[in-house]
Amino acid sequence: MDWGMKNRLQRIFKEDGKTVMLALDHGYFLGPVSRLEDPRKTIEPLIPYADALMLTRGVLRNCIDPKFNTPFILRASGGNSVLGKDLSNEGIALSFEDAIRLNASAVALSVYVGTDHEHQTLINLTKLIDEGHRYGMPVLAVTAVGKELEKRDSRYLSLASRIAAELGANIVKTYYCEDFEKVVKSCFVPIVIAGGPKLKDEMDVLKMAYEAIAQGASGVDMGRNIWQSRWPVAVISAIRSIVHEKASLKKACSLFNSLKNKTK
Ligand code: 5RP
Repeated sequence: MDWGMKNRLQRIFKEDGKTVMLALDHGYFLGPVSRLEDPRKTIEPLIPYADALMLTRGVLRNCIDPKFNTPFILRASGGNSVLGKDLSNEGIALSFEDAIRLNASAVALSVYVGTDHEHQTLINLTKLIDEGHRYGMPVLAVTAVGKELEKRDSRYLSLASRIAAELGANIVKTYYCEDFEKVVKSCFVPIVIAGGPKLKDEMDVLKMAYEAIAQGASGVDMGRNIWQSRWPVAVISAIRSIVHEKASLKKACSLFNSLKNKTK
């Protein structure tokens, strides 16, 4: 691996090999999703708690102060919307020239395995990876499930994650599921988990993060379950304790409870 590629990955994954990424790229197909109507307002207080941000170039250029020093992963796929017929119909929606101009630490693209656009999105991934090698830019593959949440079982997610790794992705972002260990064990690159739609109880979010880390995940790349919470700083702080301090679930929950009254 070339120096630039290694350096970018080391900015994302801390010395313990783990990362807490904060995902806020949802607007690329969902528009002004709840709590991200004004991205700056929601995200700025959370930046100090994130090891990396995952976002679009539009939010980066317009809502993030260039003085900030947190590495970021740029969303590189798009071309669809929640109103379209098929969420999986994505193309590559970012040039490497712009990713480098913006000083990205990685680029991210969704693959939709098992859909009508499986081939298209997997070829998009391989094109991005080829370019990534040319420029020393890591590629994060998201094993997207669109609206079909029932697809989130270990058989499907192992298949999709492994294909992404075989095609050369440097990082795979997938969902937590039952038997998650199987997904991790069959994927030879670091796995981070998405949080999925907002859960009612923050304790369930912490449990998901805890179990994912216990079963081998290299971190989280969560969005809605952090910034749609009433207590986003408390949630991300408790997640950090799980990811970086090996906190037990009990300890993380009590940290959340103690912080929720002090922070918003
Ligand atoms: C969309 C994404 C999002 O970044 C991802 O879903 C993470 O956010 P959340 O934790 O809200 O699910 O990759 O395809």
